[in-house]
Amino acid sequence: MTVKVIGISGSPHRHGNTETLLDNFLSGASHSGAEVDKIILRSMDYTPCRGCNACHKTGECIVQDDAEVIIERVMSCDCLAVASPIYSMGITAELKGLIDRAQYIWAQKFILKTLIYSDPLIRRHKGVFISTAGLPWEHVFDAAFPAITAFFNTIGFEYYDNIIANDMDTHKGIRGHPTALAEAFEKGENVVRVIGSLEKS
Ligand SMILES: Cc1cc2nc3c(=O)[nH]c(=O)nc-3n(C[C@H](O)[C@H](O)[C@H](O)COP(=O)(O)O)c2cc1C
Repeated sequence: MTVKVIGISGSPHRHGNTETLLDNFLSGASHSGAEVDKIILRSMDYTPCRGCNACHKTGECIVQDDAEVIIERVMSCDCLAVASPIYSMGITAELKGLIDRAQYIWAQKFILKTLIYSDPLIRRHKGVFISTAGLPWEHVFDAAFPAITAFFNTIGFEYYDNIIANDMDTHKGIRGHPTALAEAFEKGENVVRVIGSLEKS
C-alpha cells in the first residue's frame, strides 16, 4: 500500500527556511514512493479555539472552517511532518491556532473516551517536527516540543523524529546550512521505508 505523507507548513513566510526544509523532507518521502501532500496554513481560513468547551460534551467543534478539514485530512495520513519556524521562542500563531482547534479530538479521547488508539495504530502513524531558528542557542527549540508532543498525542501519532536547524542568521538561511537539507531528504526517505516495513509485518 502506498504510504501517505502530509506536510503542514506553519510558516507565514512562503518558500522560506522552514518550508524549504519541509520540501526536502517531502522530496525524500516521494523518492521512497510515498504519496505526498502539503498544507500551507497561511492560505487556510480558520479562527483560534474559542474555549467554549462544547466539544467536551459532543466531541465536535461548533466552529465550521478549514481547521476541521485540515485535522481530518492529516488524521488519514501515515506520516505527518509539522513544520514551524521559531517565533518568540515557540511555534507560530498559525500552527498553535491549529493545534488548539484539535481540542475536539482531545475531548473524544480523554473526556468522552469514544476515541481509543491502539499501540500498533500509533506505531504505524509517525509524526516528525521540522523547525528552523535564527539564534545559535541549543535550547532554542525547547519551548516548541511540548506543543508538538501534545498534538501528536491527541491525533494518535508516534512522535518519531525532529529535523531542526538553528543559527539561520549566521548561515544566511537554510541553503547555507551544511547538513540540514540533506538530513531532511534522508529522513523523508527513511521514514517511508520504516512505515512500509511495518505495514508488511
Ligand atoms: C516574528 C519573528 C519572531 C522570531 N523569533 C525568534 C526567536 O525567538 N528565536 C530565534 O532563534 N529566531 C526567531 N526568529 C527567526 C526565525 O525563527 C528564523 O529566521 C527562521 O528560520 C524563519 O523561518 P522562515 O523562513 O520559514 O520564516 C523570529 C522571526 C520572526 C519573523
